[in-house]
Amino acid sequence: MRYARVAAIEDAYMKAEIDKIVSPKDHMYNTGPDWYYSVGLDGIRAILRALALSSLNEVPRILDLPCGHGRVGRHLRAAFPRAEIAFADIDTDGADFCAAQFRGEAIYSQPDLSQVAIGDNYDLIWIGSLFTHVDQARAETWLRHLCRRLSPRGVLVATVHGNWSKEVQRKYGAMIGQDEWQEILKGYYTTGWGYARYPGPDDYGVSLCQASAVIAMAGRVEGVRVLGYNERGWAGNHDVLVIENRDRMEPF
Ligand SMILES: C[S@@+](CC[C@H](N)C(=O)[O-])C[C@H]1O[C@@H](n2cnc3c(N)ncnc32)[C@H](O)[C@@H]1O
Repeated sequence: MRYARVAAIEDAYMKAEIDKIVSPKDHMYNTGPDWYYSVGLDGIRAILRALALSSLNEVPRILDLPCGHGRVGRHLRAAFPRAEIAFADIDTDGADFCAAQFRGEAIYSQPDLSQVAIGDNYDLIWIGSLFTHVDQARAETWLRHLCRRLSPRGVLVATVHGNWSKEVQRKYGAMIGQDEWQEILKGYYTTGWGYARYPGPDDYGVSLCQASAVIAMAGRVEGVRVLGYNERGWAGNHDVLVIENRDRMEPF
């Protein structure tokens, strides 16, 4: 996308009013309004950087996955007022809230995302904090599944817990218990992708990734190209991976 077009989207977004209706079920709001809104805004900044790297001209169809209760979704609606937006989450209340509040379609996800009919032909797929909660095998399967849902030249922007998240766990509020964290670090140092489950029945927890492992994973997905990896690219916290649906082996 031309820089001038990216700048025009950003200008209009900065002038737009952000919907401030917050669901009482929005757990992300527990951090308070300042962090909540700045994280949403910075999601748009990460997306605009990704678009600037891409060869897209317009963004008519967007998937926000997992949408939660719209921490970023409300900003997506402000930045792309005419786009069709699908809001997907395993939390059906969150998907319904976003669809009703921010004008879109609700998609109910499942523990195995690759079994979900998540829609097609998306110009932008924003994955804010999903791979941060699963092991590498699932992340890779889901990444392939989602890359196939992109329009030609469509852009996927996904966040992961990178190197910085070690500091977050140590200094800023533990994401998971110490025993689980040791298990995560072991995977992180041996394979590049550590993961441990939260206590409870679900296979859902916290992951921690080395940038090289994330890029290698993206490099194994055929028919796309890696446009970027931005350490602490979302709100100074999560790392951000950017992929374009354009064959890396396309002839000159
Ligand atoms: C850390 S929250 C992030 C939510 C949102 N992106 C945000 O920034 O506020 C993680 C979300 O992942 C959702 N989730 C967990 N497993 C999922 C799955 N298999 N498919 C879709 N969403 C899932 C949870 O319900 C939760 O809303």
